[in-house]
Amino acid sequence: MGKLVTLTLLGAFLALLGERLVAFRKTINANRELEPIEPQHCQLIEGLENGSEDIDILPNGLAFISSGLKYPGMPSFAPDEPGQIFLIDMNKQKTKAQALSISDGFDKGSFNPHGISTFIDKDHTVYLYVVNHPHKESTVEIFKFEKQQRSLIHLKTIKHKLLKNVNDIVVLGPEQFYATRDHYYTNFFLLLIEIFMDLHWTYVLFYSPSEVKVVAKGFRSPNGITVSPDKMYIYVADVMAHNIHVMKKQDNWDLTPLKVIQLNTLVDNLTVDRVTGDILAGCHPNAMKLLIYNPEDPPGSEVLRIQNVLSEHPKINTLYANNGSVLQGSTVASLYQKKLLIGTIFHKTLYCEL
Ligand SMILES: *[C@@H]1O[C@H](CO)[C@@H](O)[C@H](O)[C@H]1NC(C)=O
Ligand SMILES: *[C@@H]1O[C@H](CO)[C@@H](O)[C@H](O)[C@H]1NC(C)=O
Ligand SMILES: *[C@@H]1O[C@H](CO)[C@@H](O)[C@H](O)[C@H]1NC(C)=O
Repeated sequence: MGKLVTLTLLGAFLALLGERLVAFRKTINANRELEPIEPQHCQLIEGLENGSEDIDILPNGLAFISSGLKYPGMPSFAPDEPGQIFLIDMNKQKTKAQALSISDGFDKGSFNPHGISTFIDKDHTVYLYVVNHPHKESTVEIFKFEKQQRSLIHLKTIKHKLLKNVNDIVVLGPEQFYATRDHYYTNFFLLLIEIFMDLHWTYVLFYSPSEVKVVAKGFRSPNGITVSPDKMYIYVADVMAHNIHVMKKQDNWDLTPLKVIQLNTLVDNLTVDRVTGDILAGCHPNAMKLLIYNPEDPPGSEVLRIQNVLSEHPKINTLYANNGSVLQGSTVASLYQKKLLIGTIFHKTLYCEL
């Protein structure tokens, strides 16, 4: 009798495992092939070839780029180099990336920048908020941008017990921001169980000096976060669930779910075109190739544009798609006028004119 129970349990366990494996392959789009789409005028940016995880472009065309992310399970071409913030002037004909110097007093050796967001105050001072993972922790660093010196002055490190496994932030006021937590567990084994069992335990957080709270939950792995040009709607990419959540911001900063835009790709970081309000999404068409990196068959890149976001039928088209021969592992795309900048987790950075 005992043997029968054991066998039945073993059978049930194997069936569950098989079902989960099939679901997991679906989650990472293991079978997806990509049709190439390339604008006519594209060039790789010189000096930016070890990642350009997140991009934020100021209204005057200066683009901030975080580079050198070290993230568990993801490839890195320069694992021993600390991360950096680069600047590109999108108004210049010949676009070149320039590394920004960072003021003393900040631990540059453990700098591991992830999501970034800019904030301009009423005196036109530009602040750069950076999600940082020094020694596998999560902090938010606030820098002041000195335009003449092309440098960043470190002002503050924000830590909080709810600011864990932070991926991206969007700043809406002085020290007021939303942040995504992309996984629940930090322990690697528990994290595997979390992904495998499809637990929806993670959330979006609101942070201010006077209040920190969870404002939306039930996500599988919330990644990029951004805000509509009128500051009324928040968009969150759930990378493992292949979708974008559209939420309305309330006066008390809570977020009310409005709808979910389902896509056939792993949506990473989002940006919004200031002029049109369109969402641009940097996506991973096939994440299996990211998890098991093979230079002969590398992960590809894909950029989607979502127009009429709030309408009943948003229009979705592909601005860029490449099998990895040019650009690998795209995470983000940002538009300035008709110029498109595409960043990647660990690879190069592409500049295209549409
Ligand atoms: C990228 O990383 C490699 C390996 O560390 C290094 O040789 C190369 O100079 C780096 N490139 C840039 C532009 O930093
Ligand atoms: C952007 O993409 C990377 C790669 O997965 C992701 O890890 C990061 O989360 C995203 N967020 C931001 C803002 O960069
Ligand atoms: C990727 O596409 C290029 C040209 O579009 C092609 O030459 C190459 O064989 C493809 N690579 C893979 C791994 O499919």
